[in-house]
Amino acid sequence: MSEKLIIAIDGPAGSGKSTTAKLLAKKLGYLYIDTGAMYRAVTLYAIKNNILNDEKKIIELASDLDIELKFEDGQTKVRVNGKDVTDEIRSLEVNQNVSPVSKIEGVRKILVQKQKEMGKNGGVVMEGRDITTVVFPNADVKIFLTASIDERARRRALEFAQKGQQVDIEKVKQNILERDRIDSSRDVSPLTKSPDAIEIDTSNLSIDQQVDLILEESKKVADKK
Ligand code: DC
Repeated sequence: MSEKLIIAIDGPAGSGKSTTAKLLAKKLGYLYIDTGAMYRAVTLYAIKNNILNDEKKIIELASDLDIELKFEDGQTKVRVNGKDVTDEIRSLEVNQNVSPVSKIEGVRKILVQKQKEMGKNGGVVMEGRDITTVVFPNADVKIFLTASIDERARRRALEFAQKGQQVDIEKVKQNILERDRIDSSRDVSPLTKSPDAIEIDTSNLSIDQQVDLILEESKKVADKK
């Protein structure tokens, strides 16, 4: 496929966005952009600077931080002002604070602008919560991934276990439900399915099946161009 498409994928935590988007990008030779990592980076530094309850300062922080995403060895390496924070942004503390930070309109404006810039030339698979609705409403391919809450909690707990961290699955489930609630009910660009996005329930699909479905759709779109 020689067309340089913009493929936008949204969905709630644990719906399989990252795994799917990564593999899809690899198969197509596209750039993979994990926008959640950018909200996580701002949250991590808001925690470090002890300013979680000061929206104005968090917005200033979002504008000052130099967030760099680089896909290396199968994962997104995240550097903030040159420091590698790839593991730190996945901590439980960041998980617990990232939804409130990503509710702040000023933070979203700054990050959305950066994301538009990163994807404007096409040849990208970008995933998040508002990619199909706000960042690239005119994306060539728009996908909304879902999965049952039990399956999503199981996947997140497995991710922690693979990093050697034993977590209580019930706590993971509660954290996901709370994030879903905040992400879907916030005033600014809430997580919603764009009417023209293709919805895929991944509860009973293998990663390969998920990727193939989007790949087929992308090829159809590319053929029409
Ligand atoms: O995909 P993730 O779990 O790493 O995302 C972390 C948080 O960032 C998520 O709870 C909501 C927020 N987010 C967002 O508001 N908009 C995006 N485009 C991506 C993530």
